[in-house]
Amino acid sequence: MQVNQSKISLSDVKDEVLAVAVLQGKELPKELSEVTKHMRKEEFEAKQGQTHVLSTLGKFKFSKLLLYGLGEEKDLNLDFLRRFAGSAVRYAVSVKSASVSIALPNVKNASEAAAQAIVEGAVLASYKPIKFKSKQDDYFEVKNISVVSKENIDEALKRGSTLAHSQNYVRDINENPANIATPQVLAQAARDLSKQQGLACTVFEKSDLQKMKMNAILAVNQGSVLPPVLVIMEYNKDKKDLPFYAVVGKGITFDSGGISIKPAKGMQEMKYDKTGAVTTLGIMKAVSELKLPIRLIGAFAATENMPSGSAQKPGDIITAYNGKTIEVLNTDAEGRLILADTLAYVAERKPQAIIDLATLTGAIIIALGRYRIGLFSNDDNLAKNIFDAGEQTFERVWRMPLDKEYSEMDKGDFADVKNIGSEMGDAGSITAAAFLQEFVGDCKWAHLDIAAVDAIAEKHSYLDKGASGIGMRLVVESLARLAKK
Ligand code: BES
Ligand code: MN
Ligand code: ZN
Repeated sequence: MQVNQSKISLSDVKDEVLAVAVLQGKELPKELSEVTKHMRKEEFEAKQGQTHVLSTLGKFKFSKLLLYGLGEEKDLNLDFLRRFAGSAVRYAVSVKSASVSIALPNVKNASEAAAQAIVEGAVLASYKPIKFKSKQDDYFEVKNISVVSKENIDEALKRGSTLAHSQNYVRDINENPANIATPQVLAQAARDLSKQQGLACTVFEKSDLQKMKMNAILAVNQGSVLPPVLVIMEYNKDKKDLPFYAVVGKGITFDSGGISIKPAKGMQEMKYDKTGAVTTLGIMKAVSELKLPIRLIGAFAATENMPSGSAQKPGDIITAYNGKTIEVLNTDAEGRLILADTLAYVAERKPQAIIDLATLTGAIIIALGRYRIGLFSNDDNLAKNIFDAGEQTFERVWRMPLDKEYSEMDKGDFADVKNIGSEMGDAGSITAAAFLQEFVGDCKWAHLDIAAVDAIAEKHSYLDKGASGIGMRLVVESLARLAKK
């Protein structure tokens, strides 16, 4: 999607559709009064999310005016602007208009943030998971959006476009099911991205992982006919004076549960168990396109988790990359195993902070529902940074505890740790996070449990059903904030 700015007045818009957002109780733009004066107040009260379409009947060059309610000014949230732009694009699709003009609303002292949010909403709403449909012509695409404003919003438009296109890149890769997005295919995506963006990229194959004693990754992979990979990408690799961070993702390309097999119902959702890894790709893409002044490692291990005659079995004891022994009591708690080796490897490089993203536990859906990501951290400043980034991007997080009692729950009977904290599932998300903490050494670290937000199942005002790409903008915003300190 092409994004540009129109420095014209609203009355001069030439696209077929002009979308205008209105605060409750505020006047409609005067330039449009020729059309809006015929509207009764009751028809459109500008309640949050309300839409109303007026035909301009030849009074202007544009033929449809889409009014969108922002609600009351005191309740205004930047995400309402993403929703506004999403509605504008969805409306343009419905009337098959390839270009749409969106008026930048007057948001006090925040025209840049507002412009960015508008572009994000529009670009995100333009992505549909249709690549496996044979009749592509059935789907109309909006190709251009013009943000109508005389303000200086050039950088904001670029930033919004880069971020939202990176999020769509995440969604598009993540939408590939397990027969397409194999571990090898994810490794190739990392190579392609790295070539495009000038990143260093190393792919460790199964034989390398055997030599390196990455036994936790290998154990999860044991039941699969496809070999695992460990991918390490590096941005600004040689710029040792820049602040240095690492992002780690969980890359289970399909989670059947293994021998501790999952129920059949809903198992197809487990194609999204690679979301953390794919989001890591999107973070590397956005960070390098935005040229953030940091050095960054993006790492993920990818493998299927399958049952078979060679699969790992409950009770197995393995030695992870950092030498800790793990009792595998449930083969469905596999994400923490592949993350154990990946985190331990990345921690050796001593980044100033590690952020991991993982569709780690069903329990986080029970705890927080689908509106907030579970945040766990061993560092208050890092946690605060991520919390604030979540409010800004509307990829909101909520911090969960990591008291030492939860780590006690992970103590093994026969090995150092066990991969489930409680047979009953008590504190399932926390004991999973506490398990990860065993592998980060003394690095500052934050873990994002994104199991509840990996895909959209219900209606959403700018994301279609399917892979959401949520978490990418959050981490990029958090890294941008860290870089500023
Ligand atoms: N990938 C799942 C977690 C998950 C569940 C993600 C639902 C998205 C939606 C993870 O590997 C898993 O199976 N976790 C188990 C852990 C349990 C065996 C301790 C779970 O949450 O049930
Ligand atoms: Mn699992
Ligand atoms: Zn999993």
